[in-house]
Amino acid sequence: MKQLVLLVSGFFLFSGLARLEAQQKKEPAILVFPSKLFGDVPFDHAKHTAREKGNCKVCHDALWPQDAKAPLNYKANMHKTAEAKKTSCAFCHVAGGKAFASANNCNKCHVKKAA
Ligand code: HEC
Ligand code: HEC
Ligand code: HEC
Repeated sequence: MKQLVLLVSGFFLFSGLARLEAQQKKEPAILVFPSKLFGDVPFDHAKHTAREKGNCKVCHDALWPQDAKAPLNYKANMHKTAEAKKTSCAFCHVAGGKAFASANNCNKCHVKKAA
């Protein structure tokens, strides 16, 4: 009987921890992608997710893994490589796409730091 109690309480402890870990994999609010040349790019993750009605699958893992250290694969050739293939940010940020393309919109993404 004592063993059963231990077993049961052990199970609850374990599932409690597992739940805590799942909560920690919560979506980030804002990610900042570094760009030394043009100014860092704050990416409003929460707004982007809300606009997709909470559907994580639009981006994960179709475009990127859930890992801010993974490469974005967007910068090559001034974004033209991604725009030609409609991948990475240019899945949406492309001429004729859901959101503004890179041309003439550099400073909608690249924020210059105050001197
Ligand atoms: C519009 C695209 C988009 C949507 C939708 C989206 N994400 Fe992300 N998410 C990103 C990008 C971009 C990154 C960074 C990827 C990289 O750096 O390679 C990211 C990174 C993450 C990370 C890693 C954060 C870190 O600090 O390492 C987590 C966790 C995450 N997303 C969770 C979610 C969850 C949960 C949802 C759905 C509720 C979601 N995402 C929906 C674009 C999106
Ligand atoms: C699933 C489609 C989708 C993807 C992928 C996506 N965006 Fe967006 N983004 C949008 C939409 C829609 C808007 C709002 C419409 C507009 O302003 O043209 C937007 C707006 C923005 C804005 C203006 C601020 C805001 O959030 O309202 C920035 C900056 C931005 N995106 C950066 C990025 C970057 C950087 C990436 C790649 C890491 C990215 N986006 C990937 C759809 C997307
Ligand atoms: C939709 C948002 C967005 C727009 C619009 C945009 N960029 Fe970027 N840019 C980024 C992101 C995010 C990165 C980092 C990409 C990566 O790590 O793959 C980046 C990286 C770069 C880099 C890489 C060099 C560095 O500093 O590390 C250059 C150059 C660049 N952008 C130039 C431009 C120019 C010029 C324009 C306007 C014609 C522009 N970008 C418009 C989001 C954007």
